[in-house]
Amino acid sequence: MPDEVGQWQELERRLRELCRIYGYGELRTPLFEATELFARGVGEGTDIVDKEMYNFTDRGGRNITLRPEGTAPVVRAFLEHNLARELPARFFYLGPMFRYERPQAGRMRQFHQFGFELFGESGPLADVEAIDLAWTTYRSLGVADVQIKINSLGCETCRAAFRDELRRRLEDRLEKLCGNCRARYQRNPLRILDCKNPECQAALADLPELVDFLCPECKAHFQGVKEGLSALGIPAVTEPKLVRGFDYYTRTVFEVTAAGLGSQDAIGGGGRYNNLVRELGGPAVPAVGFAAGLERILLVLAKYGIKLKEKDAPFVFMAPLGREAQAHAFELACQLKHQGIPAYVPLAEKSLKAQMKVANRQGVKWTLIIGDEELQKRRAILKKMSDGTQREISLAGISEAIANLYLEEGR
Ligand code: HAM
Repeated sequence: MPDEVGQWQELERRLRELCRIYGYGELRTPLFEATELFARGVGEGTDIVDKEMYNFTDRGGRNITLRPEGTAPVVRAFLEHNLARELPARFFYLGPMFRYERPQAGRMRQFHQFGFELFGESGPLADVEAIDLAWTTYRSLGVADVQIKINSLGCETCRAAFRDELRRRLEDRLEKLCGNCRARYQRNPLRILDCKNPECQAALADLPELVDFLCPECKAHFQGVKEGLSALGIPAVTEPKLVRGFDYYTRTVFEVTAAGLGSQDAIGGGGRYNNLVRELGGPAVPAVGFAAGLERILLVLAKYGIKLKEKDAPFVFMAPLGREAQAHAFELACQLKHQGIPAYVPLAEKSLKAQMKVANRQGVKWTLIIGDEELQKRRAILKKMSDGTQREISLAGISEAIANLYLEEGR
């Protein structure tokens, strides 16, 4: 609805402005892609690919998926347009995503993401830049109270060692795990770590942590990220069980949560993905990125009582009384609109009382009252709505007077 859309537009405007400051250019990918892109990119065995994608076959027999996320499409576009020629490269996107999840507050099947991706930098400062931009996103909107959790998933080598250890240690506790986690045990045991089921969490209690398995390079990288964040004063907390639901991550993963949103408290998440570009058929280009849910940001803003933008209201309301005045007011309103001044005129005769009610409801700044009697004298009454004061004004000078007021206080 228009009121809500006003908030969305202002949110999007501010996100675009932030990306301009950070040097990220907007990229728009199609709403659907070949299913294979997500199966390979996000990964078979992840919840998104196995349970949540909107797949269909098009008239040409192609297997198509409504995009559940933005990273794989951006990488696809990056390769298709040969963007690896100029690195580093920075892109952001804003738009609808689709996941067949069980809808609830803050979780819908069509939702919107703001996301960004940085290609071609492998050092920890790239991760720090991404986390800083994520953090600044919320802070610039006035949401100061967000939590940032970070973790490192290591590279293939250290992760494989941890995965083996996890399987070995969980082998004799399989019956204590939920059905989902028993399936994950074979396909994707890391995902067991962030299962919300309390019994699974209890079964994990004395297990080793991923960070203890990092190889020296991954350990140094993670250390560099933490140092960079602390130098910027960004309060990130290491969460050893944070794994995130995508196969493409390597090393750093992070998530942003906000208190008071209930179970859907993740307002954003991201991480590094050093192998995805190569896995999708390109050169070895390291990358890191992040995405935030716009609906969830707006929920947090509502919770904090933050309104990004006041409702749009006409600047001046014409209140004509009588037939001749009505015709005159209509013409005048049209002329004002042609000059770019938001003016409102009732399209049929109404009593002054009824008109003032509408003017008040709309929150206009000025009302111009033109009666047939005033018209005879070539005059009208201009009323300031904030304090009720009014003055007489000559009909000939109305347009100019309103244009001047609009210049002074219109926006
Ligand atoms: P994600 O954590 O799946 O990450 O989604 C990012 C954010 O989108 C979530 O934190 C949440 O705010 C929002 N979101 C996800 N699903 C829903 C839903 N069903 N309804 C409402 N909001 C939702 C990604 O998508 C990765 N592509 C992020 C990334 C970019 N990693 C690297 N680059």
